[in-house]
Amino acid sequence: MRKLKNCATSFQTIFFLLILVGSLWLSIEASSCRPNGGIRVKRPLPRKCNTDDDSECCKKGKFYPTFKCSPPVSKHTKAVLTLNSFEKGGDGGGPSECDNMFHTDNTLIVALSTGWFNNRKRCHHNITIFGNGRRVNAMVVDECDSRRGCDAEHDFQPPCPNNVVDASKAVWKALGIPKSDWGELDIHWSDA
Ligand SMILES: *[C@@H]1O[C@H](CO)[C@@H](O)[C@H](O)[C@H]1NC(C)=O
Repeated sequence: MRKLKNCATSFQTIFFLLILVGSLWLSIEASSCRPNGGIRVKRPLPRKCNTDDDSECCKKGKFYPTFKCSPPVSKHTKAVLTLNSFEKGGDGGGPSECDNMFHTDNTLIVALSTGWFNNRKRCHHNITIFGNGRRVNAMVVDECDSRRGCDAEHDFQPPCPNNVVDASKAVWKALGIPKSDWGELDIHWSDA
């Protein structure tokens, strides 16, 4: 009796895993932009990254996919809003890609995933962010690098996903999101 039960349990496990792999594959298939490679951290990192704003540090042995592209931009581009500091010593790493300067987090500024950053073509252009039932304009000043990461230049943080609008705290405030909920939010954006 006991054996039978175990057997049923492992069938359930296999079934569950099949569903999981299947849906993962489908979600990769569905997005028009696939990874171009990835980074696996082989050695322990020389120092811990800045974990402000819930930033994630690269972990030894973990695989991080990299992207050269982002999903196509429309008038209602789906994205994930994250929190970033553009100040010196913040979790944003080096100065902003557009002007090689640091910026105060009290201004409405964002970094975009590599594909959307589009070789600096959106530098100093505004985007409109729709979230929490509000809309706010913010200026693109930086790239959230989807191609590289886990090195000193990227503060030992993983490469950015390909669908991120990485925003200053001013943007989160302007969207009216309570501080306790800052971190990750599903949003839409368009060129302003
Ligand atoms: C861009 O957005 C900022 C912040 O909302 C605003 O102050 C600025 O006037 C906008 N710039 C343009 C060119 O629309």
